[in-house]
Amino acid sequence: MHFEMIITVDGPAAAGKGTLSQKLADKYGLAYFDTGMVYRAVGLMMLKQSLDLNDADLAKKMAEQLTFAKMMELSLDKEFRSSVGGQAASIVSSYSSVRSQLLDMQRNFAKNPTFADGTPANGVIYDGRDTGTVICPHANIKFFITASSEVRAKRRYDEFVQKGMNVQLDDVLKDVKARDERDANRKDAPMKPADDAIILDTSDLSIEEVFQKAVAFIEEKLK
Ligand code: DC
Repeated sequence: MHFEMIITVDGPAAAGKGTLSQKLADKYGLAYFDTGMVYRAVGLMMLKQSLDLNDADLAKKMAEQLTFAKMMELSLDKEFRSSVGGQAASIVSSYSSVRSQLLDMQRNFAKNPTFADGTPANGVIYDGRDTGTVICPHANIKFFITASSEVRAKRRYDEFVQKGMNVQLDDVLKDVKARDERDANRKDAPMKPADDAIILDTSDLSIEEVFQKAVAFIEEKLK
């Protein structure tokens, strides 16, 4: 590849964004930024200190203290990927002051894309809710990945079970719906596809089928 490629993959919780992004990152030699991590990190900082998640000012203070290194450290905590961690992230991500505070950390990642070991990457793949609309509106290629809430809940449930977590499918479905509702309806940067995003409904597709469709689209764009 002779130019720096930026790909964005947005969509609701558990739609398969992470899996697709990682596979595309491997194929095209791209550094990967899962932007939900910035909100998960702030949410977890608050949970750990028993701070009130409904306090937007406190959430902003936590966001001010967040560095990339701190986020990576927090990501090792077992609550980071839990349902509780996801809900906390969803709550703090609804505050516009928190979102604007965390904007530069996300955007800066594309300025000098490198892998964890410091070697340069061919570009960046962002995964999140607003990466094609707000974080990187000039991305070369944008995807919006979706699936029915039932399918997404089942996928998330299977992931939790695989990790040995004790969860009920019904609770995971409720959780997915609650997050959709909050993410789609927040005043600031509601989750929606960019005008120039390709929309992929993965409800009836395997991981490999989604990947092949995405690759076909990218190859067409690169021609
Ligand atoms: O993708 P995730 O489940 O790790 O995201 C956690 C929460 O963070 C999600 O409910 C909404 C928020 N989020 C966001 O508002 N914008 C992003 N670009 C990524 C995540």
